[in-house]
Amino acid sequence: MTTISDDMDGGLLASGNRHAPGARPRGAAAIAGIALAAAIVFAGCHSDMYNQKKYKPLAASEFYPDGQASRPLVDGTVVHRDHSDDGVIASGKVNGVPVNGFPFPVTEQILRRGQERYNIYCSPCHGRTGDGRGMAVQRGFPQPPSYHTDSLRARPVGHVVDVIAHGFGRMYPYADRVAPRDRWAIAAYIRALQASRQTTVADLPPSQRQQLK
Ligand code: HEC
Repeated sequence: MTTISDDMDGGLLASGNRHAPGARPRGAAAIAGIALAAAIVFAGCHSDMYNQKKYKPLAASEFYPDGQASRPLVDGTVVHRDHSDDGVIASGKVNGVPVNGFPFPVTEQILRRGQERYNIYCSPCHGRTGDGRGMAVQRGFPQPPSYHTDSLRARPVGHVVDVIAHGFGRMYPYADRVAPRDRWAIAAYIRALQASRQTTVADLPPSQRQQLK
């Protein structure tokens, strides 16, 4: 900036001398400096095409004959969200309360499906064993709680389905990636993960106890 006003000093002095012989060179240089700075600043300030007229949704409009800014739906438009999805299988809840039981029998096949879905969609954060130390967490994502706590063991199983469907705190919903029945399969697998740390040898059927010996 000093260099620029010094340069300007010469030019301004010349014209100043012509029209106002008494002008003080320093003051003139300062004014020139300000003028130049203003020219630079305002040169970058143009609003053409930047500030266009726009309507907010459902605002009034004088442009369209029906007086509304929002256009009517095109014939044949269908809703994107499927509301048949709102029953207990999808939400895990009845009358807003998470249920404590499965809406269909949990077979080995369901558990294997749950394991597969869990490892795809949940383990990146919750970890393969449910300890909350998945790869995304090791890379800086907020750490979820371990499933192996008394409070999460005590939660009704519908809570897990609810969390998958609607999200929980910093965890976003997985409703668009995990189909309703798969939510229960995952919930069943999480129960299996929890049981895996609570089970003693005495809980096993005799045939399996035999294998451990
Ligand atoms: C991108 C990381 C991420 C993924 C993937 C993720 N979660 Fe979470 N989950 C979190 C975080 C973080 C929390 C803690 C949220 C909070 O307390 O704000 C959480 C919390 C939970 C809770 C505990 C809720 C409570 O009552 O404390 C459950 C249950 C849960 N997640 C289930 C799942 C299931 C099932 C999946 C897979 C379908 C899944 N999460 C996938 C990050 C994730």
